[in-house]
Amino acid sequence: MKYIWILKLKLEKKYREKIEEYLISLNATITSLDAENDTNSFKPKVFNTSAFFLKKPKNYIVQKFLENFNIEYKNILLTKVKIKDLFKENIKPLDPIHIGRFTFIEEKNIRNFILYKNIIIPAGLGFGTGHHPTTKGIIFILNKINYRKNIQYKNLIDIGCGSGILGITMAKLWKKNVELIDIDKQAIKTSITNAKLNHLNYYINVKKGDGLKKTIKVDYDIITINILAKPILLSTKLINKKLNKNGRVIISGILKHQKYMILNKLRGMGLTLEIEYIIDNWAILLIKKN
Ligand SMILES: C[S@@+](CC[C@H](N)C(=O)[O-])C[C@H]1O[C@@H](n2cnc3c(N)ncnc32)[C@H](O)[C@@H]1O
Repeated sequence: MKYIWILKLKLEKKYREKIEEYLISLNATITSLDAENDTNSFKPKVFNTSAFFLKKPKNYIVQKFLENFNIEYKNILLTKVKIKDLFKENIKPLDPIHIGRFTFIEEKNIRNFILYKNIIIPAGLGFGTGHHPTTKGIIFILNKINYRKNIQYKNLIDIGCGSGILGITMAKLWKKNVELIDIDKQAIKTSITNAKLNHLNYYINVKKGDGLKKTIKVDYDIITINILAKPILLSTKLINKKLNKNGRVIISGILKHQKYMILNKLRGMGLTLEIEYIIDNWAILLIKKN
């Protein structure tokens, strides 16, 4: 009978990376999920972290290490589970999702893989499988504007790339280089892996950065930005500055009631709203620079 040991912890964001690195050094595989379950927080402060060990880790060594982060003995739960039970309970593949001309899937070895139609995004360490309304809404709009064959889009950038899903979609739609930016190291790694998985790494350039502060090009035809309302608000000046005339920004990550504060700021700079979708209380906006 094959077993696996699972260490379950509740981790504060400020300690998460250090603790995860330590557990990985003990040959653990880690998953960390938002413990707050707050749909308005893409940057949760607390995580439910599970570390999976094929060999039982030395409990007292792990405990000693975790004491440095004020994690009490009673909160360190190490359990032994039959591997076959673990798979039964925990591995539920995501359903493929159809958005515009694409079907987003988790793995390549499905039957009838079609290069033109399929984008592979495994559910993993970067946000964005296509199932969240904000991602879905932006991809829908990208498909829509791609149909307008009279408009040429050359300079493309995605801010807050997560899994890389929006940048990969743009590269597939326009067959042009796309810049991807994220403040999170893990998102950068995941986006690079996913670009390779889709054979689009030639088009994709992923960099660590904060909003539009440091970009390779000076102006863009399409900017996608799916982060939270506050950093978007702080980026409005740069969005206006870095958009070409007739360029478009697709914004999401904001709730319905937050849209006016962003829209009013951009309208004040002369930009106009072209499309607006509200899905499950999330706003997705297509805005044009005239
Ligand atoms: C909601 S996810 C979006 C992921 C993907 N683009 C999508 O649409 O599904 C937001 C991403 O933005 C990143 N992020 C948050 N604030 C940022 C900022 N100021 N600059 C760059 N990236 C940021 C986060 O690390 C996270 O990966």
